[in-house]
Amino acid sequence: MMERAGDANRITRAYFDSLLLEMRHIGAVVPDTSVTVYGHTFKTPVMTAALSHLDRHCHPGGMAELARGAADAGAVMWTGMGSEDELERITATGAKTVKIIKPHADNELIFRKIAHAEACGCIAVGMDIDHAFNSRGEFDTVLGLPMAGKTLEDIERFAKATRLPFIIKGVLSVRDALLCRQAGVRGIVVSHHHGILDYAVPPLMLLPEIADAVGGTMPVFLDCGVSSGLDVFKALALGAAAVSVGRALMGPLSEGGADAAARCIREMTAQLAGAMARTASAAAAQIDRSVLRRI
Ligand SMILES: Cc1cc2nc3c(=O)[nH]c(=O)nc-3n(C[C@H](O)[C@H](O)[C@H](O)COP(=O)(O)O)c2cc1C
Repeated sequence: MMERAGDANRITRAYFDSLLLEMRHIGAVVPDTSVTVYGHTFKTPVMTAALSHLDRHCHPGGMAELARGAADAGAVMWTGMGSEDELERITATGAKTVKIIKPHADNELIFRKIAHAEACGCIAVGMDIDHAFNSRGEFDTVLGLPMAGKTLEDIERFAKATRLPFIIKGVLSVRDALLCRQAGVRGIVVSHHHGILDYAVPPLMLLPEIADAVGGTMPVFLDCGVSSGLDVFKALALGAAAVSVGRALMGPLSEGGADAAARCIREMTAQLAGAMARTASAAAAQIDRSVLRRI
């Protein structure tokens, strides 16, 4: 198949690979990879991405199987579109879970899903606002359900409707990051939703500007194309509080279920620790941006 010139996934990979690491040995210590997210401490900043429908794509145990892996690895579990039953199966694994709701046209459905995530004991809830449109500029339909664009006022109402932190996923501009803060949002995911827009800026490229703009007031997360602990290191260095991994976890999950997903998260965390040790980065939240150089 012909490669698309504007494929944002390819451009994002090239950006990851254009960043190189200095080495800093003097005074280096055994690194601490743990992170605290919304008051909960995790062993690793490697989180799952807000995936969905894994029973069709990947493993018969679906999202709950991934949740078992995340809990076992001491990682944050994120989940996307799915039924109430499925969310209950996910949180029953004990995984600390973030639920991401689609930008459904029906706001009442969104409010019900927010309340359900709260009742399930999720640690945060949010919305992937980047899934409102299809690539022809029409409102999208996802598995028969109509989507719609959301206004600042809608987002304010969603954030106010819950005592949980409300997160917006799919922020790819300082503009939207500042608007999210204005709306009372308490976390953002810098993401292009695995290439939803051709020529979308690599999330990693915008991350420092977005982290500088809002990172002092809320955690800034990142996903898209993260496939190793070195990628995680680069995202943390540029201001991410933690990083989500989607497609790179799906292969292990489909081959070896929860255990293999947990092993993959642990392996990425070990690679991250290796890079932290060799750059004198003592803690995940303290990686110095100046350690990175661009080709
Ligand atoms: C099978 C699959 C299902 C997904 N479902 C959702 C979803 O329901 N909600 C959402 O916000 N993102 C969803 N995503 C997007 C991921 O959360 C993530 O943004 C994207 O895959 C980029 O990360 P990656 O490059 O590590 O895969 C899905 C991705 C995949 C591959």
